[in-house]
Amino acid sequence: MPLPPFVVRSAAVPETEGAYPAPFDDEKLSLGRDLGTAAGSRRLGAWRERLLPGRRTSFTHAHVREEELLYVLAGRPSLRWIEPGQEAQEVELQPGDFVSFPAGTGVAHCVWNRADVEAELLVVGERHTSERTHYPEEPLFEAWRDDARPHRAWPDPVRPVGDARWPAARIETERLIIRPWEPADAWDLWALREANREHVGRWLAWGRETADVDEVLSDIRGYQVRFAERRDLVYGVFLGDHQPIGGIGLHKRVGPEGLEIGYWIDHAHEGRGFVTEASAALCTLVFEVRRLKLVEIHCEPDNVRSAAVPLRLGFTRTGTLPARHVNAAGDAVPSAVFSLLAHEWQSDRPLKAWDSLGRRLY
Ligand SMILES: CC(C)(COP(=O)(O)OP(=O)(O)OC[C@H]1O[C@@H](n2cnc3c(N)ncnc32)[C@H](O)[C@@H]1OP(=O)(O)O)[C@@H](O)C(=O)NCCC(=O)NCCS
Repeated sequence: MPLPPFVVRSAAVPETEGAYPAPFDDEKLSLGRDLGTAAGSRRLGAWRERLLPGRRTSFTHAHVREEELLYVLAGRPSLRWIEPGQEAQEVELQPGDFVSFPAGTGVAHCVWNRADVEAELLVVGERHTSERTHYPEEPLFEAWRDDARPHRAWPDPVRPVGDARWPAARIETERLIIRPWEPADAWDLWALREANREHVGRWLAWGRETADVDEVLSDIRGYQVRFAERRDLVYGVFLGDHQPIGGIGLHKRVGPEGLEIGYWIDHAHEGRGFVTEASAALCTLVFEVRRLKLVEIHCEPDNVRSAAVPLRLGFTRTGTLPARHVNAAGDAVPSAVFSLLAHEWQSDRPLKAWDSLGRRLY
């Protein structure tokens, strides 16, 4: 039976030798078969590449929009990468190794065959006409390319400026990933709420409410709208990308110069410093990216565990607001107020943050 047009035998796809255009064509790169085009791919490019000893796949480069994946089929090629502002690093790969380069991280990479045997790779990458690529080790090529293809130029290495610097849509701390809830999280969030009805509901009225998964989904859609409008930033707190363990938010309830942090954590993950870690990350972003002057945390005066979080982070108890908070029983009760000013904050905890386009904010 003849093969359908979307199946190709890679040996039947012609192999071409890679090189950059003149005047950068002295160096010969890998020998590659454009499997993606041959099989009719439109949004993804896929190349099977042979890398002779001493050659590299490309100049070290970082993509803004195109995600790239690499799988080692044979040999011992070396992966070379450069994190923004850091020295280049290399590690030797082996057959079966898989590498992922998410777009917009600013991490530049290439593969260099420093071994004495040929290496073979499968490289898959997105194709965006408005892609921008940064070549930290090849400033002449970068300048030439910016000139030749201005739409693919790199105006500002990774970092957005001004108003575009807010809000963070993905935050990574030492142990946590903090990101807005997505519709696909609805089942997990529903299960988490169910498991924490007593624990959270003791202090927060919504914690007691029973909700089916559709109500949780509709809550998530509401968070997304308010997040997009920058009215209210509600995040999930995750271990890895898909295990939610709690929630944290930045709320506009304390005037134009500040934001209030609210939080809750799954009872099984209490007492391990996760809330303190997530709150510290938000403080850094509010002060250093959003450049506001004040962060507050409010809680019922006898919610000792909640009050311990701001105290652990160096907040000062600045007062009590009468009848400010509706407790789980539906009564208006006072709130203890903890405040932290920008100049009082300093943190050397690991923290990375990106905007919704995957550009690094911090
Ligand atoms: C309030 C609440 C979020 C606090 O959670 P928490 O787990 O106590 O806070 P953290 O995650 O910061 O953990 C701190 C604890 O971990 C310990 N810890 C362990 N490793 C730690 C680390 N690396 N860093 C900081 N603390 C660490 C601390 O010593 C502290 O333990 P302790 O309570 O025995 O002193 C939680 O109790 C909760 O969800 N309550 C219900 C909802 C609620 O009240 N929300 C707030 C409404 S205002």
